[in-house]
Formats: sequence, C-alpha cells, structure tokens
Amino acid sequence: MLLRKRVHADLTQVTRLLASAGLPPDGLEHTEGWVLEADGALQGHVALELTPDAAVIRSLVVAEGQRGQGLGVRLVEAAEDGAGARLLVLRTESIGPWMERRGYRRATLQEAPASVLATTQFSGGLCSGTPVYLLGAGQAIKAAVRKRYAGFVERGGACCAPAKEPCGCSADPSLAVGYSREEIQAVPQGANLGLGCGNPLALASLKAGEVVLDLGSGAGFDAFLASPRVGELGRVIGVDMTPAMIARARDLARRHGYANVEFREGDIEALPVEDDSVDVVISNCVINLTTDKLQTFREARRVLKPGGRLMVSDLVLLSPLPAHLQGDRDAYAACVAGALLKEDYLAAIREAGFREVEVLGESPYELGAEAQVASLKIRALKPGGAASGGR
Ligand SMILES: C[S@@+](CC[C@H](N)C(=O)[O-])C[C@H]1O[C@@H](n2cnc3c(N)ncnc32)[C@H](O)[C@@H]1O
Repeated sequence: MLLRKRVHADLTQVTRLLASAGLPPDGLEHTEGWVLEADGALQGHVALELTPDAAVIRSLVVAEGQRGQGLGVRLVEAAEDGAGARLLVLRTESIGPWMERRGYRRATLQEAPASVLATTQFSGGLCSGTPVYLLGAGQAIKAAVRKRYAGFVERGGACCAPAKEPCGCSADPSLAVGYSREEIQAVPQGANLGLGCGNPLALASLKAGEVVLDLGSGAGFDAFLASPRVGELGRVIGVDMTPAMIARARDLARRHGYANVEFREGDIEALPVEDDSVDVVISNCVINLTTDKLQTFREARRVLKPGGRLMVSDLVLLSPLPAHLQGDRDAYAACVAGALLKEDYLAAIREAGFREVEVLGESPYELGAEAQVASLKIRALKPGGAASGGR
C-alpha cells in the first residue's frame, strides 16, 4: 500500500471515501492530505488543517473492508510527521479512546490555541464540551519513540538479530553490551532485538520467589532471562508502551510457556503496577527515552517493596548536547536527545527517594560523534525493609 501526499486529482475519490464514512467533503480546500493507495484506488485519507502553531486533523477515513489493518495508524503517523509537534483532533468522540491509546490527551476547547479555534474545523457553533484531543510536546516524543520501536519489531532488530545476519555488523550487539552467548541462546528467538545498552540482570542477584518488574521490556529479552531465576514461585512483569513490543513479548511468552511472566501495556511514567509490590526493578536503555526521569524514578520507588532494589542500565551524557539536537524528536527516540547528564541522572534517582545509589559500571557508548555518551550500570535501594535496617 503506497502512502503519499494527496494531489488535486485525488479529490473525487477522497470525496467518495468521506461520503462512505458519512463525512461531508467540505473544507478540503483548506487542508493538506495524505492518502493510502492500492492498485490506483484510494484506501484511506487524512486531512490536516495547518495553523502557525498547531495542526488540526480535519478528517481521517479508511475504506470499508480495509479497517482493522492499521491503516488509520499509518495515516495518523503521516500527519504527525508532516505537522511537527502539536496536533489536535475535533469531533472524534467515536475514536477518542483510540487516540488516547496513541498518547493523545482529551482536553477542553479552552485549552486549544486561538489560531486553532479560527480554523474551519473549529469555527461555528461549538459548545464548551466539544472533545479536543491534544498531542503535547511530551506526547509527540512518545509517539516518535513508539514508532521507532515498533519499526524494530517489524525489521527483526537493531542490527544483527540472530535471524538476520549478516546485516552490517559482525556480532549480535547484545554480546557487546554484556550478555553471554548462553543468555542470548536461552531466550526465544525474536525476544533479543539488540536494543539494550547493558545487562541489568548481571548484578541483580535474583532469588527464587522474587517479583521482578522490567521497565520498557521491549520484546521480553530481560523478562525471559529473569523468569527461570525467580522460578515458579516468583513473577516477572514487563511494562512497555509500544503495542507491537507488547504483542511480540506476549506471543513469545505464550508459545514458549513462560507461565510466570506477564506483559502490561503502559507508560513507565505512570506504572500500571501496585504500590510496594515488587522486589527488583530492572530497566535496560529505556529511562533516557522518558519525558520525565524524576517521575519515572518516583514510580519505580512507589512500586518497590521497602528495601527493594533498582538495577538500571542506561545511557547518559558526559557533556552537554549540541544545541541542534536538543528537542529533536528523532534524536530523542534514538536515545540521544533525552539522555541526561550523568550527574543529573544520579541526582534524579536520589531525589526520587532512593538510597545507596551506586554506579557499578561505566563504559563509553558510540552513538555518533556529536554526543558524548556513556552506558551506566546503576544500583539503588528503596529505604526501609529488613535489608537496610529501616534506613
Ligand atoms: C531501547 S528499547 C529497549 C527494550 C528492552 N529493554 C531491551 O533491552 O530489549 C526501549 C523500549 O522502551 C520502551 N519505552 C520507551 N519509553 C517508554 C515509556 N515511557 N513507557 C514504557 N515503555 C517505554 C520502548 O517502547 C522500547 O520498547
């Protein structure tokens, strides 16, 4: 299916598509559009009305018979890429929950910028309860992150996932960041996408019966490694916000009989996990991607039992980021622009209420010449519990 920008000759078919969904064709002249085409027939269309500081999705339509195949997602992504950071959607009560799952926030009309209220989509007779779906800068970053990591699931990994060699690098990248060949071979094929920057389990000393939570569990690599270590009486929970990652991890867990592992779709900045319920929080190359690191560490602390441990591998900056990379969504999704300076990262862990914050390992990490990056392995404890004597 070809995704391309709409041209004038498409308008007759676009009007037909809109009519098939019960939508009026008015306002098309004020919009830019993207279409999905197969064999010369349009299968989907999104129209965007641009203002100086935002963009409004005027309409989104997928041909009957083509629904349920992810075409709407492709069109919304085309709109997001074409429009930049902020998008608003109006009169979409019917797909509101869908937009919320994609990271849009339901807002009020009063929150929309004046330039948006002046668009044809917003003009005329709107009541204050009209739903508006807003993609703020933070959510736009998350959308870019989801898109990038869904792409790794489709392509089979960052570089040399076992099934894909040779593909430009000489060995599985997980070997280079601290996993052994035995560990790589121990997990189901398709779980190791080569996306880690360390091995947070290496020093976690997991014990039978413990509950482990993996923040940003991807396709389940670390969760599957943790599973036999905590055994039948233990449990492993993976949380990830990219639906394709969750689907892959759940599928592997089911097919390979990992009865003590579950994967939950969610944002690690608002964990879908109960207070004081986890013995060990692990995370591998994820927290740099969050938009609020302090909040992420606070959430990790909330769900840990008193005395529980945090074991994180992550990327940090060793010098400030060049100005042109700051705020760059693609650089953010590539683990560069969201990374904190090392001292700020450690300070955020302490500020979130962790004690005994220790850097157990630090190695340079190659992410291009423009940013000086290191991979850290960090351990910290939640105060309280028998192990820390109530500290
Ligand atoms: C670099 S990959 C690492 C995946 C996995 N830890 C591994 O080592 O294979 C980053 C993962 O974090 C997830 N992620 C990023 N930000 C997140 C957030 N705020 N909440 C939940 N998951 C997030 C992405 O969807 C992606 O699967």
